[in-house]
Amino acid sequence: KHVILVGVPMDAGKRRQGCRMGPDAYRVAGLDQALANLGHQVSDIGDIQPDDTDVPEDLHLFALPQVIGWTKALSRTAQNTAPNGLPIFMGGDHALSMGTVAGMAAHAQQIGRPLFVLWLDAHSDFHTPDSTGSGNLHGTPVAYFTGQTGFDVFPHVAAPVPTDRVGMIGLRSVDPAERARLEKDHAMLADMRSIDEHGIKAPLIAFLERVRAANGILHVSLDVDFLDPSIAPAVGTTVPGGATEREAHLVMELLHESGLVCSLDLVELNPFLDERGRTAKLMVDLAASLLGRRIFDRPTRSF
Ligand code: ARG
Ligand code: MN
Ligand code: MN
Ligand code: MN
Repeated sequence: KHVILVGVPMDAGKRRQGCRMGPDAYRVAGLDQALANLGHQVSDIGDIQPDDTDVPEDLHLFALPQVIGWTKALSRTAQNTAPNGLPIFMGGDHALSMGTVAGMAAHAQQIGRPLFVLWLDAHSDFHTPDSTGSGNLHGTPVAYFTGQTGFDVFPHVAAPVPTDRVGMIGLRSVDPAERARLEKDHAMLADMRSIDEHGIKAPLIAFLERVRAANGILHVSLDVDFLDPSIAPAVGTTVPGGATEREAHLVMELLHESGLVCSLDLVELNPFLDERGRTAKLMVDLAASLLGRRIFDRPTRSF
């Protein structure tokens, strides 16, 4: 496969800063080499920058003009890279998925296949600009790319992803307004309670079956806080009770075996909060599993 690494030093989606260092942390942790070792052709197109916009600052929404500028640049970059390989967006905070998913959905429309989205996250990120209490736009990308109302000042989403093509695994922090919206829609939700009961494989396989039955392609959005904070401390929004290292690797291996993945976001890594790079290295290992590394080929990780 041709894997295209895209650096997204985006920090505009929330107030706590540091995710802008994410792309370089992935480079230092050896993401390119890890994927090249699997036989992939890897190119790193470097860090992209947000477009300029004349949208004014908003009193409630943090860094609104910057997020809009990033969304434009990222949607274009996704559409330009996807025809040539599998883009990996090295974030950057989760607001970057507004642009990456909008762009991948436009690409999917071009090739005449439906786009599905797997959201691996403690949070549903399903707020609208009207319902977010924090004003942090990293809590809104799913509402944006599924075409919810309230995003009038944002770039128009040409190909919204219907909520029944979204699967969420790892949920354990959902705000009331998000929950109300999720309950009337048909996203596939696997919260940590159901993972405890049924394991993580069952909901994933069910979702992948949906993708395959529709001849779809799958965008995966991996938020660091999907993982348990004890193994992945480098994120500003830790929530206890996350996925274990074993669950996370199993998800990645099953995704690889499905052959359905077209693109990947690695988001919310804040290297400023890391311990000797352990979170960055774990994210690199998970990306490698998604791209075909098998259990006996995993390197011994020291930190
Ligand atoms: N729901 C909370 C909020 O709206 C947290 C969102 C966290 N999102 C994330 N991508 N880490 O602020
Ligand atoms: Mn998130
Ligand atoms: Mn999250
Ligand atoms: Mn909130």
